[in-house]
Amino acid sequence: MMKFSKAGLLVAGLMMTTAAFGGATEGKAMFDEAKCIECHNTSDFANSKKVHSFKQLEDRVQACQLNSDAGWFDEDVTDVADYLNQDFYKFKK
Ligand code: HEC
Repeated sequence: MMKFSKAGLLVAGLMMTTAAFGGATEGKAMFDEAKCIECHNTSDFANSKKVHSFKQLEDRVQACQLNSDAGWFDEDVTDVADYLNQDFYKFKK
């Protein structure tokens, strides 16, 4: 009984650790794994004139990931948008 609840705590701890790697850090990893760089370099993002809000950025990431068959979930799209926003776009959310 005691062992069981300890294991439960351990699992909960691991899940929290994983969550800590979400957001922009996870987004960068996903961006690097997907084929985004085949069409983009970072100056596309740093010198963007087309995207004017975080919402537009998310929409653009969504459209591109669908086109390139990355197979991301909505939360992955948000993580990648968070990463691009943190490093390049710098919109206030
Ligand atoms: C097959 C080529 C291609 C691939 C692969 C691709 N994109 Fe794009 N992406 C484009 C094109 C073309 C545009 C410009 C579209 C426009 O201006 O309407 C664009 C625009 C964007 C923009 C907006 C840039 C701006 O003007 O601020 C973002 C952000 C973006 N892509 C993210 C991604 C991400 C993330 C991935 C990887 C999942 C990706 N793209 C993969 C072709 C691609």
